[in-house]
Amino acid sequence: MAKAGRPAATGAPPVRLKQKDLIAIEPMTREELELILDNTVGFKDIVTRTVKKVPTLRGKTVVNLFFENSTRTRTSFELAARRLSADVVNFDVATSSVNKGESLLDTVETIQALGADYVVIRHGSSGAQEYLGSRIDASIVNAGDGSHEHPTQALLDCFTIREEKGTLDGLRIAIIGDILHSRVARSNIWAMQKLGAHVTLVGPPTLVPERFRDFGVAISHDLKTGLRRADVVYTLRVQLERQARNLFPSLKEYRNLYGIDMERLKYAKSDALLMHPGPANIGVEVTREAMKCSQSRIEHQVTNGLAVRMAVLYLLPGGREYDTHADQ
Ligand code: CP
Repeated sequence: MAKAGRPAATGAPPVRLKQKDLIAIEPMTREELELILDNTVGFKDIVTRTVKKVPTLRGKTVVNLFFENSTRTRTSFELAARRLSADVVNFDVATSSVNKGESLLDTVETIQALGADYVVIRHGSSGAQEYLGSRIDASIVNAGDGSHEHPTQALLDCFTIREEKGTLDGLRIAIIGDILHSRVARSNIWAMQKLGAHVTLVGPPTLVPERFRDFGVAISHDLKTGLRRADVVYTLRVQLERQARNLFPSLKEYRNLYGIDMERLKYAKSDALLMHPGPANIGVEVTREAMKCSQSRIEHQVTNGLAVRMAVLYLLPGGREYDTHADQ
């Protein structure tokens, strides 16, 4: 593999993603996912060294446009763009003309007219980024759309697992919790299976309906059964803000049946990784003790998010023909 951020030593043009946008994992191939994960290795090397900046996206502009709250995704996209020497604008939705009724498309067209090459968007409506992708020249990067997909979260999760286990091929991964409302779960179900893992969804029938079997996964409504022989225990946040009605009796009931603590972690393999996308409802879906235990990779997930997002920005064309000399 060429060192990340530089063209191949042969003088051949660097291999990049053919797609303009990163909207969803579902339509992507295993080879495309592996291209991103392979490039992430090089970018992780860059972010852990003393001089953390490369000139790869010098002259490019990345705009972060978040219509929903975020800590990890927004901060890591901003840092990723800065580490690649791009100009970064964090668009403030609250003080923008969105509040005067400007449409999403008009807003993004305006941002593009100001020179954006990449627009990183989180939006509450599933499909918002796909709608923009076919109407805007800039590369649209989905930072989460409703309960549809959160592709860079799945990429950083798969990178974290691959880093620890060497491969996802043949691994058993249990995803626990609010699958129904989770864009993280949907992106991970696609990504983990494309990379060769066996996925079991665990939770109450109201949050893990039978129709999810269409994704090719197994389903268990019993935590002990679902975690048996698992290599990865991936617990999700209970998304109280997305629940239109009560889908379980109480948080206490949920914790009693599906909360992960040190004892329940033992239902999985002794070397199983514990993961969570964050932010966590501590004491509901996972205890603080479990989050901090030696099997937990929750902090690694956050750290790896930066390198994965650098790889994504590098590999997408930025809405324009690439200047292959920009990173020399
Ligand atoms: N996991 C995740 O998307 O976290 P943020 O909402 O903090 O970005």
